Amino acid sequence: ELPDIDDAGQVPVTPRRRTSKLAIVGAGAVGSTMAYAALMRGAARSVALFDINTAKVEAEALDLGHGIQFMPMAEVVGSDDIAVCADADVVMFTAGAKQKPGQSRIDLAEATISLVRKVLPSVVEVAPNAVYVMVTNPVDVVTYAALKISGLPPSQLFGSGTVLDSSRLRYLLARETGVAVQNVHAYVAGEHGDSELPLWSSASIGAVPLLEWNGLGGQGALTAEVRERIAHEVVDSAYRIIEGKGATNYAVALAGSRIIEAVLNDEQRILPVSSLLDDYYGISDVCLSVPAVVGASGVGERLAVPMSTDELAGMRRSAEAVRSVARTFGF
Ligand code: LAC
Repeated sequence: ELPDIDDAGQVPVTPRRRTSKLAIVGAGAVGSTMAYAALMRGAARSVALFDINTAKVEAEALDLGHGIQFMPMAEVVGSDDIAVCADADVVMFTAGAKQKPGQSRIDLAEATISLVRKVLPSVVEVAPNAVYVMVTNPVDVVTYAALKISGLPPSQLFGSGTVLDSSRLRYLLARETGVAVQNVHAYVAGEHGDSELPLWSSASIGAVPLLEWNGLGGQGALTAEVRERIAHEVVDSAYRIIEGKGATNYAVALAGSRIIEAVLNDEQRILPVSSLLDDYYGISDVCLSVPAVVGASGVGERLAVPMSTDELAGMRRSAEAVRSVARTFGF
């Protein structure tokens, strides 16, 4: 039997769901770069951009459409009409206030929550079965608020969380050790923000526990001082980039595309996304990032990652930091 040939004359390596539709709410730097990343990676067959700024969203979609010839087959549309999100399989919510130099993510909470309250229900109305991924900051508080506002089950709506922070951590560890980033297995957990924490005790480089890594040829040992420096660099990353270029967009868009692929290809991929925790090491009723299984029905099992006493204390501090902000806004 001859293999299926798709319209681009290519034999699909992994047959994608023909109906794989991605909707992105917000056509700003993050949303439009996420559309580009998803299209370039062939993550979705159909990409819909929604924004209230008509000229912007139409221009972004047109500019992306002009490049379709150079991408895996797909279509892209943009509109200020929420109907463009109809029947999406996954919705990435990127709309919200931009973090200014020196501003913390928490400072954006009020503006973002009121925007979610205004927009999210009408998206859910046209795409009731989509998996929803909140990206806008402060993402953990916004995810918790979005669950309450939408009434969706905690498997169907979660946040991008520390997928981005974990890729920053891996990048810095790879640079420090000289090992390929793909062989660095390390997660950042907790808040996507100042109280996040690297899970050093469960990290490994290749098959070597990270805490036993003495470097290659004596170079690149990960001493406590080096780990401390890297942990700070991860937390400072966004502030540093925002100082320099006004926003972050590439890495967060690629992290978003990774999540999109896990959902649309039903990968059962383990990713540190922000989800509603229920008695996770005694932590409940707060959205935080821990490694969890992500697939077509959203977020599933949260992995009981072995944690040191310090890491557990860090998780509890992070939970309190996020919960106290959510309480400020009545959630
Ligand atoms: C960052 C933004 C997405 O960490 O919070 O770059």
